[in-house]
Amino acid sequence: MLNRRRVLAIGGVATGGALLWGARESTTAEASNAPAASSSAHHEHHSGGAAAATAEPTSGTGTPPPFTPFSSRLPVPPVLRPVSTTGDTDVYDLPLKHATAEFFPGRPAPVLTFGGGFIGPTIKARAGRRVKVRYVNQLDRAATVHLHGGHVPPGSDGFPMDLIEPGQSRVFDYPNQQQGATLWYHDHTCAKEAEHVYRGLAGFYLIEGQDEAALGLPRGAYDVPIMIRDARFDENGGMIFEPSPMPTTLHTNGRLQPYFPVDSRKYRFRVLNATLHRIIELDLGGLEMLQIASDGGLLPEPLPRKKIMIVPGERVEVVVDFSAQAVGSKLVLKDVYGGADEPVMRFDVVRRAWDASRVPGRLRELPELPPATVVRDVKLSFSASGEEFAINDKTFDPARVDTRIVEGTTEIWRVTNTDPADTPFGPVNHTFHMHLVPFRVLDRDGKPPLPGENGLKDTVLVRPGETVRVQATFRGYKGRYLYHCHLQEHSDIGMMAQMEIV
Ligand code: C2O
Ligand code: CU
Ligand code: CU
Repeated sequence: MLNRRRVLAIGGVATGGALLWGARESTTAEASNAPAASSSAHHEHHSGGAAAATAEPTSGTGTPPPFTPFSSRLPVPPVLRPVSTTGDTDVYDLPLKHATAEFFPGRPAPVLTFGGGFIGPTIKARAGRRVKVRYVNQLDRAATVHLHGGHVPPGSDGFPMDLIEPGQSRVFDYPNQQQGATLWYHDHTCAKEAEHVYRGLAGFYLIEGQDEAALGLPRGAYDVPIMIRDARFDENGGMIFEPSPMPTTLHTNGRLQPYFPVDSRKYRFRVLNATLHRIIELDLGGLEMLQIASDGGLLPEPLPRKKIMIVPGERVEVVVDFSAQAVGSKLVLKDVYGGADEPVMRFDVVRRAWDASRVPGRLRELPELPPATVVRDVKLSFSASGEEFAINDKTFDPARVDTRIVEGTTEIWRVTNTDPADTPFGPVNHTFHMHLVPFRVLDRDGKPPLPGENGLKDTVLVRPGETVRVQATFRGYKGRYLYHCHLQEHSDIGMMAQMEIV
């Protein structure tokens, strides 16, 4: 195992890393066939006991400090307060700034933040009510901010070359003329996005739908956003960012394996996979999780699930009912993808509670989907050199428009991953993401979509050799928007393209 990791690390240097980046998500994917794959090795340490230390060597950069699982409480990111409000608009100020975060207690690590917290403050919006955010760049580098899942004018979409220089600020306009959903904002700087997001530049943006409150779903303190991320840490508890297939450790709302005290009642959890490249499969010790929403908001009806796969960029919302759990129970939420067994966090049932919330059998009608008039093929693959990733054999060029779309039309995109399932490091997955509009997943190689893919989506897993058909209506704005793989290491080295709505 150690040898294998060393080989991978050396290989990462020798080949420029591109192949390995593609393979990185596969260290978990492969684990089902090879349970001793590198990612599971990491887990053994964490699940091994109260004072388990991460004893993994990290390619000569030291061993992360020990930490005690479930010793720090899950922070709920603060809700950002508007600096002003008018009849139809809330205005916010949000600085991008350097700060420190304590993944390991007592060991502050430098991070890049929105507003000073390792995960940014939550912006709460309502459908139909406009938000304006003035992003003030107090960093030592240029950055930009994209609202993932946002239906926004092109000038507010955070184009990768449209940077906010240090000391500058920009106002982005979010009209919120869209369905209620769990969105997130994150950096989108050309070729630097993976590192910027990894080091902290991300936060939640929640849009409450028009009729959502009437449904009676858990609200307020019982509606909790959970951002799952990953990192490698050095001996001082600082983050290591280097393109290599090294295994990572999950952290949740900026804490390693936190605990969260809950009442014995229903909660709504909005889970975002903001890792660099890890597919996560959530398992709450077999307890049912009732999926109520995906990327683009509520599903037509709730879907009971025992395990939920969530890929980088995706959101899944669940209602978990702790009412049958005795006070004192502790339930560990784990990632079990591909044979992994890594705690994400723990729910500690601490008191009985009265619960008036409910989950109706019918959540909403999806907007109608007009018939498609255009069909396109979108191929995701290594470029010919193997050093970059490409869409339809082209690596990203901000000066080139790859796809022209007539505003208002509906199209089917056949998105194919032509990369291999059998590299020495496992399968090369991609997660396809489209800006501006949500899509519907029609099928996978002609077979039905995966569970939970029947709602509005903006990010979807495409496995090696697979063709996923999605259908979207490009309505609302004209201008240039991106589509790309949401494994940010892939998009950073070319797996990104531009569409122009005309
Ligand atoms: Cu969350 Cu263009 O991405
Ligand atoms: Cu996006
Ligand atoms: Cu990819």
